[in-house]
Amino acid sequence: MPLGWFRAENFRCLAAVELELDPRANLFVGPNASGKTSILEAAFFLGRGRSFRSRRREVLVRHGQQEFLLAGRSEADPAPMTMGVRASREQTEWRLGGAPAEGVADLAEQFPAQVIDPEVHKLLEEGPGRRRRFMDWGVFHVEPTFLSNWRRYHQALRQRNAALKQGRGDEDLAAWEQELAVSGEELARQRDSYLARLAGPLGSIGAALLDRPITVVHGAGWDRQSGLLASLQEGRARDRRYKATQLGPHRGDVTIQVAGRPAKDQVSRGQQKLVASALMLAQLAIQEQQRPGRSALLLDDPAAELDRENLARLMAAVQSLPAQLWVTSLRADIPGLPAASRMFHVEQGAVRRG
Ligand SMILES: Nc1ncnc2c1ncn2[C@@H]1O[C@H](COP(=O)(O)OP(=O)(O)O)[C@@H](O)[C@H]1O
Ligand SMILES: [Mg+2]
Repeated sequence: MPLGWFRAENFRCLAAVELELDPRANLFVGPNASGKTSILEAAFFLGRGRSFRSRRREVLVRHGQQEFLLAGRSEADPAPMTMGVRASREQTEWRLGGAPAEGVADLAEQFPAQVIDPEVHKLLEEGPGRRRRFMDWGVFHVEPTFLSNWRRYHQALRQRNAALKQGRGDEDLAAWEQELAVSGEELARQRDSYLARLAGPLGSIGAALLDRPITVVHGAGWDRQSGLLASLQEGRARDRRYKATQLGPHRGDVTIQVAGRPAKDQVSRGQQKLVASALMLAQLAIQEQQRPGRSALLLDDPAAELDRENLARLMAAVQSLPAQLWVTSLRADIPGLPAASRMFHVEQGAVRRG
């Protein structure tokens, strides 16, 4: 199972919370502003190195404190593995198996956390940044070379953009274009093959949630007919005007369609939540195929935006996956939650077993 034990200190309103978790389902019940979402946010941070609510580190540290501390013990095979992070406004230290870790990427493989929260519909509504992050998180788990390739691409991109800002000549741009083209074409290929793999679970989960097929189409970020190298060369004059590289996988996107039409144009907010949730669940299904027994699904206030029938559908789809569940709710009776879920009461930043 993913986490058997979890501890958070000085994270948001949580002074010191310690949890013995159920391998299958954990329910956090409490009134508004009691700290339920903060618990999921803390777990997410341990596995992902960021919050799903804010980009600003300082809001995560408990008021009046200097740093927060998160720790967990994964019970996944072959042996239990401890992990932790200590983070202040300026500094972050990761630990894995009792030793310093290089970064969150090491922990992300041990504890891949996926979240479905009331903002999940933004995956459809907002700009491409979220969808790129979604896609790349998935690719990261299935392609061992993804991270180094991604870094290589972004390093070259920064260099070419710096050259553009400085008004350098073609020779200086060409020096980075070769590198950008090689790593960028590879990134797009890896995204292609990930999205092709996603299609399977997305098809079945989409059908269960919406009765209609959900499909994804990869937009690479440049015209695939002409290669990336040629596109960069042809785009130099325009890029000089913008002082930044306008084409490439850093401009990639995923078009999400329901029954063949763009999802964001046609579905209600509740349906948007189901579509975005289907994407998250399909991604989690692939993560679990790749490294079984590690994934956690953080389900924050699943009842928000959903009527009873759709909530029941979502919970049924969630339960068909083997992930550990962390569910928050104002009320204890969530239709479709396993009867044997472990219950925690959350009040004013403190937690007790129910
Ligand atoms: N850095 C912080 N330090 C202390 N309290 C915080 C911090 N950030 C947020 N809070 C408080 O935490 C409380 C709980 O928030 P939240 O986890 O969203 O509750 P819930 O999900 O139960 O509604 C809120 O009252 C908020 O004001
Ligand atoms: Mg909340």
